[in-house]
Amino acid sequence: MASHQAWIVVVGLLLMVSVTLATAPRKPVDVPFSRNYVPTWAFDHIKYINGGSQIQLVLDKYTGTGFQSKGSYLFGHFSMQMKLVPGDSAGTVTAFYLSSQNAEHDEIDFEFLGNRTGQPYIVQTNVFTGGKGDREQRIFLWFDPTTAYHSYSVLWNMYQIVFFVDDVPIRVFKNCKEMGVRFPFNQPMKIYSSLWNADDWATRGGLEKTDWSKAPFIASYKSFHIDGCEASVEAKFCATQGKRWWDQKEFQDLDSYQYRRLSWVRSRFTIYNYCTDRSRYPTVPPECKKDRDV
Ligand SMILES: *[C@@H]1O[C@H](CO)[C@@H](O)[C@H](O)[C@H]1NC(C)=O
Repeated sequence: MASHQAWIVVVGLLLMVSVTLATAPRKPVDVPFSRNYVPTWAFDHIKYINGGSQIQLVLDKYTGTGFQSKGSYLFGHFSMQMKLVPGDSAGTVTAFYLSSQNAEHDEIDFEFLGNRTGQPYIVQTNVFTGGKGDREQRIFLWFDPTTAYHSYSVLWNMYQIVFFVDDVPIRVFKNCKEMGVRFPFNQPMKIYSSLWNADDWATRGGLEKTDWSKAPFIASYKSFHIDGCEASVEAKFCATQGKRWWDQKEFQDLDSYQYRRLSWVRSRFTIYNYCTDRSRYPTVPPECKKDRDV
């Protein structure tokens, strides 16, 4: 083989390697709870383990509890390792979400709906932009989320919002402003998590009630990674916009491998997708095409 041909092969291989490796978000760094978070309510229902490198949220018949990030952020990568309420968790909801503080609020939601012992959890996701939500998707997971820690994360930049479960993209919401769909870009968000009783709707649409004889219900957390552009709550833009790793080309869209995994999740585990709910949306919501939900 002539040497220039060998070079072409080498360069080609390097390109393939960089294209396939470059698109997973940076590996989260485990930090203690108190580095990034503070309790929001019912402080005595949060238990600190190993000096706060792990925590537990406790729900009993008196109260649930929750925590929030100290800072607010405009874009970045936010992840958490969670082990959901084991055993009979019917009626409980554990949530991990980003939310802006203003009236026309933006929100990026993960909600974990508990179930009776041995019955599967549901993961519900939603995206609110400018106060408008109604974009629910629901899936089952491909593992039992109560027996071990798994990571749940959000990548948010000017181009897309990606929901990941253990590095598998389970949902993408692309910036479709050219189609008149609002995209969160000018309001910083804080990260929140909570555990509460929602037995009026959570499990089989509210049919299964929380069994308080099984209380306390406990969700465990660790890792607490935040890598975002920190900005004051009133900020309209991120000072380092365009310069951070999540702004770069390889994070502006999913690569083909990630799209394959996303379609695997969608085809195997979908329970509900607003994009395909023709009785609710006789015309397909505009973002659904670009998100490849339809
Ligand atoms: C709970 O289990 C039932 C029966 O398997 C299932 O229909 C339901 O979707 C599961 N999850 C929730 C949150 O209701």
